This record gives sequence, C-alpha cells and structure tokens, in this order.
Amino acid sequence: MILVTGAAGFIGANFVLDWLAQSQEPVVNLDKLTYAGNLETLASVQDDERHTFVQGDIGDTALVARLLAQHQPRAVINFAAESHVDRSIHSPEDFIQTNVVGTFRLLEAVRAYWGNLPAGDKAAFRLLHVSTDEVYGSLGAGDAAFTEQHRYEPNSPYSASKAASDHLVRAYHHTYGLPVLTTNCSNNYGPYHFPEKLIPLMIVNALAGKPLPVYGDGMQVRDWLYVKDHCSAIRRVLEAGQLGEVYNIGGWNEKPNIEIVNTVCALLDELRPKADGSSYRTQISYVKDRPGHDRRYAIDASKIERELGWKPAETFDTGIRKTVQWYLAHPEWVANVQSGAYRDWLQTQYAGTVAA
Ligand code: NAD
Ligand code: TYD
Repeated sequence: MILVTGAAGFIGANFVLDWLAQSQEPVVNLDKLTYAGNLETLASVQDDERHTFVQGDIGDTALVARLLAQHQPRAVINFAAESHVDRSIHSPEDFIQTNVVGTFRLLEAVRAYWGNLPAGDKAAFRLLHVSTDEVYGSLGAGDAAFTEQHRYEPNSPYSASKAASDHLVRAYHHTYGLPVLTTNCSNNYGPYHFPEKLIPLMIVNALAGKPLPVYGDGMQVRDWLYVKDHCSAIRRVLEAGQLGEVYNIGGWNEKPNIEIVNTVCALLDELRPKADGSSYRTQISYVKDRPGHDRRYAIDASKIERELGWKPAETFDTGIRKTVQWYLAHPEWVANVQSGAYRDWLQTQYAGTVAA
C-alpha cells in the first residue's frame, strides 16, 4: 500500500481518485483538514475499503511513525502543504510550520521506518515529494523555461518554504541515502480546485455575478497543467524515476492571466449564457497587484518526457473546457465550499471511521 499525505486537498484528492480507479493497491490518506482539506471531494471512495482516511499532521512524528508501522507502505507521497501564495503573504507562519517543519518531521519518521525495513522492502521503498516550479523564481519574457538545473530563487513565503522542503528532501538522500524522488510542477487546474486560486475563483465569481479580480496588468504568465496529467506524471515518476532525481512536470502551456480569464468568460458565455445577453467579461476588474508578484513561470518538461516517456493527455483547450463543465455540473460542491459546509463533512459522513 501507499501512504499519501495532504490527499484531501486539490491535487492529492485527484491523485487518490485516479489511483483507485486504476489500481487495487490501498491508500492511507493522512490529512490535517485545514481549510483546504475537503473530504466531500473523496465522497465516492468513503466506503471503499482500499481508502483509509486519517486526520492528522505530517508534523506529528508519533502519529506518522504509528501509521508507517501499522500499514507498512512501500511508498510515501507528500502532497501536504500550505499552498496559496496570497495567504503566505498575509500569514507566513503556517507555511513554515507545515512546509518546512512538517516536511522535516515527516522525513525523520520515514527515515526511521525505512532504516528498519528488511533489505528487499528497503530497496523498493520510495518517498516522493511533490513540489512546485515557484521555487525557481521568476523568468523574464525571453528567458528559457526552468530546467531541473535552474537555480533556486524563491520570492514568496510560499515558494521559499517549498524550496526549503525540497532542500531537506535532497539532503536526506545525500546524507542518509533515503530513496527520494522530487517533482516540481507548474500551475494545476481542474476539478475540485479550491476557489481561492485563479481559475476556480474566476468561474465561481462569474457565475455569482461578482467581480473577476485581475491583479496588476494581468500580463503575468503561468504555465498550466490539467491536474490529472500531474497525477499521471507522479505515478510515472513513482514507478520509474531514478533515486534522488528531480523531475520538472509541465504541459508547455504558458498563458498570461488575462488570457485565462477571457477564456473562462468565453466558455461560460457559450455554456451558461447570461440572461441579459452580456458577456461575463464585463465583470473583469483590475485590482492592486500582489506584492512581489512573480512575472513569469515556465517549465521545461523535456527530462520527464525523454527519460520516463511521460506526456500530458490534455491540451489547455480540452482541459479548461472540462474544468468549466465540471464546475457547472457540481454546484453543490461549490456551494458547500462557499458556505463552509464542506468542513462539516467529516462529522456527518465519516462519523466513526476517522482515526486521529
Ligand atoms: P491544497 O492546498 O489544495 O491541499 C493541501 C492539503 O494538505 C489540504 O488537504 C490540507 O488539509 C493538507 N495539509 C495542510 N497542512 C497539513 C499538515 N501539516 N499535515 C497534513 N496535511 C496538511 O494544495 P494542492 O494544490 O493540492 O497542492 C498539493 C501539493 O502540490 C503542495 O505540496 C503544493 O505545493 C504542490 N503543488 C501545487 C500546485 C498547484 O497548482 N496547486 C502546483 C505544483 C505543486
Ligand atoms: P494562483 O492561482 O494564486 O496561483 P500562483 O500564485 O501559485 O501562480 O494565481 C495564478 C495567477 O493569477 C497569479 O499570477 C496571480 C493571479 N491572480 C489574479 O490575477 N487574481 C486572483 O484573484 C488570483 C487568485 C490570482
């Protein structure tokens, strides 16, 4: 079985749903259930005996040690993190606690467990650490995309805390021989994305008739990957990645923010036209820029394509259409996130099944 941390969040939950759709191998899901953790996303597997949910913190060494001893996973995949740049600007402390201290404690617990495994299991074990392209800092307009050799130049408390976690993971490989893999992925989008991030926020605000806040001039560039393509890349790295190696994951989809917002508006105009016939674009509102806002991210995904034969299945056009359609088809999920009702899911749906 595998232990997956942070799998009540956006990418981790998509990963678990895809994993269980393709494999019989059980998953233990360790998640603290911060505001970003949403068990409603995992409703379809709540009664699946291959999925065990445990509410807890990756920084709780005793809990992690107990879970490792009890379940004997062959791999740990670490998605758990504080992930929103704007929140990291307002309250960086949580980012240091989870992304730096939490990752450190997880590494310590995993190192102790791995060190005591029998030789065969020890050789087969993997810790896969999920990270971001934001650790590489900001690119100028004509700069080449980030390769794995790009120097680390994080600019936000979020990216600095992720960079620190990447360095710890690297150090545990070089110092202790811990069998680690690290992935650095570009911006994800897709189903179950918490509507504080650009794409889901634009969809839900547009439908609610609210302003669509575009930071600064809207010409910051992000490189977008459909979440299920990120999940397939992680599965591939887990299966075939070389120990201690880093793999950049991306879909060669650089877009300025304003283009993303216009695309979302155009899809909504087509799929859910407004009663008054006006475009959702009329709701776009330019607002004050984010402090220290990185201008451009772009991932060079050549290494994972060449060495592991991975390629994304979706283009941006197909992925963004699926995403908008998903939000239109799941108004209850959106409403529960907006009202905060999703936070009651634990009590109402998982009563008695959640270990702490
Ligand atoms: P998310 O914020 O949606 O989910 C994070 C999950 O981690 C939540 O379920 C939360 O409850 C849980 N969590 C937080 N602190 C925890 C702790 N101390 N112990 C256990 N669980 C904890 O984030 P996401 O977008 O799903 O991102 C997952 C990972 O992928 C993160 O490590 C992030 O840095 C990385 N990443 C994200 C993107 C992106 O575009 N979203 C891109 C590249 C990499
Ligand atoms: P976000 O989804 O927060 O991801 P990240 O900051 O990790 O790249 O933001 C994506 C881009 O969209 C980023 O350049 C900031 C911008 N943005 C807006 O213009 N308006 C918004 O309301 C949000 C949330 C983001």
